[in-house]
Amino acid sequence: MLEGEQGPAVMKSMELLTALGDVFGAECLVEVDSVHISGVSYRNLGDAGTEWLEELASLRAIVSSGVRATLNPAGMDMVDWRRMGVNENFAVGQHRIINSFKTMGVETTCTCTPYLIGHTPSLGSQIAWAESNAVCYSNSVLGARTNRESGPTSLASAITGLTPLYGYRLDENRLPGTVIEVEAKLRCPMDYSAVGYHVGKILGTTIPYFKGLGKPDVDSMKTLGAACATSGGIALWHAEDVTPESSTAANYLDGLETLVIAEKDLNEVKNSFTVAHDEATYCLGCPHCSLNEIREIATSVKRDDLEGNLWVFTSRGVYAEAEQKGYINIIEKANGKVFRDTCMVVAPLKDMGWKGVVTNSFKGAHYSLAHGFPTKILPLDKLLREAQR
Ligand code: F3S
Repeated sequence: MLEGEQGPAVMKSMELLTALGDVFGAECLVEVDSVHISGVSYRNLGDAGTEWLEELASLRAIVSSGVRATLNPAGMDMVDWRRMGVNENFAVGQHRIINSFKTMGVETTCTCTPYLIGHTPSLGSQIAWAESNAVCYSNSVLGARTNRESGPTSLASAITGLTPLYGYRLDENRLPGTVIEVEAKLRCPMDYSAVGYHVGKILGTTIPYFKGLGKPDVDSMKTLGAACATSGGIALWHAEDVTPESSTAANYLDGLETLVIAEKDLNEVKNSFTVAHDEATYCLGCPHCSLNEIREIATSVKRDDLEGNLWVFTSRGVYAEAEQKGYINIIEKANGKVFRDTCMVVAPLKDMGWKGVVTNSFKGAHYSLAHGFPTKILPLDKLLREAQR
């Protein structure tokens, strides 16, 4: 592959992966059968990134046989982008990017929650996933093994079917480093998001072992992982009697420092996002909404009753199910908007005229503030009540 026998695209990909392996002292490459690729929005890639992908596609880069490769969100709803307020020039660039991935054989799922649409690698399998919430979910909840891949390295793994063996792929690097005792009462997914945000800030990249998380549902686990991967760089967490590797991890807790999370800690992180804007957009779906979350939203809103600007983001896979069940119709009739393929961070919000954000996601709030928007955080029920005022 390195000598170019399988063509220039494979050669370039192998050069990248072997260089990465050298940097991290990997002894060998291992096979992957599952890849999730980030770096999709025209907002982040610009013309240079778009041309790079087109060049790769023209070199006949193709997803290796036996590998399933899915794609992260794009900068717009690929069908309904005009209604988002995205301009024509952006749309042209975004379509070029998606076409390049399509040519390469990548499933253009455009979601950061591939695990909600049936891309669920098995326990112990070696995978190459990018996008920090997806990495955290696959490592922790599914027990698959990935490092925090980037767009180029995940694409290189898709093309070669290989990845260097180092980091979270090895047993010894999957052990906990700190015990987290959660004493605070966790009432809703946003509380789990607050726990994740608080812990990530303190631990950085150390692997936490949670006690007292209760029985979190899928939505709580996805938002917890998204938050701790954002405020820190956490790629893997264990939780007693919750995650698949927790019983093995429990054998290595002796001598670890314990951090207690009390109610006041959660209130403190919640109070870091309280700046409201009169014309803020109420924003749900970071990470992309599950069917359950869309059902919950549809159940709480009534015809014509949304005065605030409510935007919901999800994958096209979940959207199709929600549409079939009538949830999309209910939300749209209440004056809410449901979009696929994109999100509140990778879309060109400033150009679209956004002024502020209210969300239930600490990851979303973190980036919204970083992009200069006045940002407020509220749990789902309160957020919907406020949007209905
Ligand atoms: Fe997903 Fe966008 Fe949030 S990619 S995790 S919805 S920032």
